Parts: sequence; structure tokens; C-alpha cells
Amino acid sequence: MRLNSPQINLIVKACMKASKSLIRDFGEIENLQVSSKGPGDFVSSADKRTEKIIINELQKAHPDYGFVTEEAGIINKSNEKNKWIIDPIDGTSNFLNGLPQFAISIGYEEEKEIKCGVIFDPIKNEMFLAEKGNGAYLNNSRIRVSNKKKLKDSFLVTGGPKHSSKIKEKIFSEYVDVSKTVHFPIRKFGSAALDIAYVACGRFDGCWHRELSYWDYAAGSIILREAGGFFDFFDEDKSLSSKKNVIATNSMIHRELQDLVIKKDIE
Ligand code: IPD
Ligand code: CA
Ligand code: CA
Repeated sequence: MRLNSPQINLIVKACMKASKSLIRDFGEIENLQVSSKGPGDFVSSADKRTEKIIINELQKAHPDYGFVTEEAGIINKSNEKNKWIIDPIDGTSNFLNGLPQFAISIGYEEEKEIKCGVIFDPIKNEMFLAEKGNGAYLNNSRIRVSNKKKLKDSFLVTGGPKHSSKIKEKIFSEYVDVSKTVHFPIRKFGSAALDIAYVACGRFDGCWHRELSYWDYAAGSIILREAGGFFDFFDEDKSLSSKKNVIATNSMIHRELQDLVIKKDIE
């Protein structure tokens, strides 16, 4: 593998360290499912614990770098040049319910551009990683997107809506519209980061997700682009504040999928 920036090496190291405690915590979930208290509080502390390990590890190397994290928020705000973007557990609902489909997602941004990223599924021991200009990898093998050309033949994945979403109806009806267009039933796997990584390695041909946060897609965006895919936003509605609507495909079906979901936006 020819990925060798200091930042990607640091991310890999942080992921490996954090995943040890994450795997232990996931093992606890089964016991908690059947306890009267349930796993809710435990999961939120597992989230924080995992993130803390990652932050500590990255800070050891670069105390001055900024962070955009899901749990601890923004750290070192004044550093606009170098930033780590962290989601300690993407796929919390899966984790909470003992379903092994979740990942640590870490991206590195320099001068406002994502330079490298890692998405690590510790249960399947699958590490997706990429560095700008040097390709994308799954563990030690180079990955590429699929070459499916037509939307109707594509295998797609999406997500949401969240319980709190104000655009639930739109998300549901969009799901129906796209479902009517494609032959394979659309999947909802519950981890946007892994969904994008799966497009990058050709397991899916495309995905779209509304209302994502930066940490959900930062690492995925570079992994997909380096695997030959197309990563984009399909709605720049300012009222969404920091949330974005993401479309990630093998690039060949991009236009067709985008036209379908944008159509929904202007209805
Ligand atoms: C969520 C997952 C999910 C997506 C949600 C995200 P979390 O992240 O990526 O697939 O549909 O919008 O918030 O809460 O599990 O880190
Ligand atoms: Ca997330
Ligand atoms: Ca999360």
C-alpha cells in the first residue's frame, strides 16, 4: 500500500487504539439489552470514551490542530488550517441494538480540503482508507467503484429520517420514488460512513442521505473520490445550517440519481 502521509498513519494508530475499547464495549451491549436499565446511557459513554481515546492520540502528535467532533464539539477553533473531523461511532442505533454495522470515521482537513480519511469497522476488521492522489484501499487492497451504468440496475443504500427530522415526509416519498425506479430493493444499513465506503469498494453503486453532519461524510468523501466515485451535495439549503444532503455514487449513475432526488426538492 502506498499511503504514507504522517496524518493517515496517525489516524490509523488512533483508530486501532480506540477500537480495542469499542469492541469491549460492544461485547457489553448483549448483557445490557436484557438488563432493566437498557443500554442507552452505556452507549453514550462508549461514544465519549472512544472519542476521547482518538482525540488524546491525535493531540499527542499535534496539540495545535483543530477538531470538529460529534461528542466534544469544536476544539482549537482558532486553527483553521489543520483539522481532524471525528465520528467515534457512526451507526449508533445499530451499536445500541447489538447489530455489528458501525464504524469509527476520521478525516483530516487541511486548508479547507479533506486530504485523507479512514473508516474502520472494528467488528469485521475492515479498514477503508484513502489519501488525496494516492488511491483508496480496503485493508491492503486497492478498491474501485462499480461500473454499473444505469440507475435501474443499481444497488442503492440510503438512511433516515431521524425521529427529530422536520422533512420526514419528503424523505419517505423520495424513498418510494427511487424504489420504483430501481430493480433491487433499496437498503438502509444505518451507518452513512459505511454506506459511502461500500460505494467506494463497489458493494453498492450509489447512496444518498439527507441531513448529514460533517463527521458522517468527511472521511467517506475522500475514500469515494479516490476510488473513482463522485461525491456531491444535492441541496444547498441554508436553513439546514450545518446539515448537508449527500449523494455518493460510482459516478456513472450520478446524474440519473441526482435528477430524481433534486426533482423531489423542487416539488
Ligand atoms: C447517523 C448514521 C445514519 C444516518 C444519520 C446519522 P450516528 O450517525 O450515519 O446512517 O442516517 O443521519 O446521524 O448518529 O450513528 O453517528
Ligand atoms: Ca454519524
Ligand atoms: Ca456518532
